[in-house]
Amino acid sequence: MKKDLSNIKKAVKYLNNNECIGVPTETVYGLAGNAYSNIATLKIFKLKKRPNNNPLIVHYNRLSDLKKDCEINDNFIKLYKKFCPGPISFVLKLKKNSLISKNVTNKKKTVAVRFPKHRIIKSLLKEISYPLAAPSANISKGISPISKEDVKDEFGKKIKFILDGGRSKIGLESTIISLIKKPEILRLGGLDRKILERILRKKINNNQKSKIETPGRDKLHYSPGIPIRLNAKSKNKNEAFLLIKKRKETDKDYFYLSKNKNLKEVGRNLYKILRKVRNKRYKKIAIEKIPKKNIGEAINDRILKASKK
Ligand code: TXA
Ligand code: MG
Repeated sequence: MKKDLSNIKKAVKYLNNNECIGVPTETVYGLAGNAYSNIATLKIFKLKKRPNNNPLIVHYNRLSDLKKDCEINDNFIKLYKKFCPGPISFVLKLKKNSLISKNVTNKKKTVAVRFPKHRIIKSLLKEISYPLAAPSANISKGISPISKEDVKDEFGKKIKFILDGGRSKIGLESTIISLIKKPEILRLGGLDRKILERILRKKINNNQKSKIETPGRDKLHYSPGIPIRLNAKSKNKNEAFLLIKKRKETDKDYFYLSKNKNLKEVGRNLYKILRKVRNKRYKKIAIEKIPKKNIGEAINDRILKASKK
């Protein structure tokens, strides 16, 4: 605990100096900077090699702070009460007098916001007077990090500090829902669609074909940079084989996402294992069929995108 406190103090210093640092959240680790600062937010884009038309998510700890920057509505209140803090991001209208840097929004009139649940980033947010812009802490299009080591693996010495918060519990990015007009899911994620629908009492489009721009829907994404074969029943030569159920035989190329088809566990392990097999220099990956129910829908979205060439 003492260590956590001194690390949070260090993190505050870096952030107040317009530096970007790695921060833990319950979904994935973020590359965080002062969302009100043009300098800090520009650094995020540079470090990630992120195209500047791909806006960032802004992280808050308190609703009263979010209200300074965005217009809220009834759907937002319903979802906020039920799921925040947690693995959901909202696209809302930006207030005219908001201090959020234009780099964050790519000069759009909307902004994506979220309230992370991880205790370390919550404590950090309490110590600063601005929200944190934080995309996933990976080089653009790559595998999202779920531990301090993963962030190091992505950026090496290019970032000065990573706040350690252990392994991210969910392991997949937040679900993004646009509340600008009719609620619309822009990215499947840590909170599954059925649960959202229950609260809003209506079906929500998972509108991957939506007209609302969300560059995270780019085809090539979450990619380990090697070919991935989906719905595999068995392993081909030289493939790493990612499984969700225990097999009788052992094989050095088998990697378990789960041993008993536990989909939450599959979500938690997916990025870790993709990174592991890439670092072991496998040239190909095969993945067993993963059911599309509950969080399985988001997992399938990720592996499909990761498999695109
Ligand atoms: O779980 C998460 O959401 C993690 C953690 C660190 O909070 N963050 C994350 O950020 O996944 P990032 O930047 O990797 O993904 C943000 C996505 C991008 O696909 C971006 O295009 C979309 O959010 N986005 C941001 N602002 C938007 C806006 N105003 N309208 C539509 N999409 C937006
Ligand atoms: Mg990302």
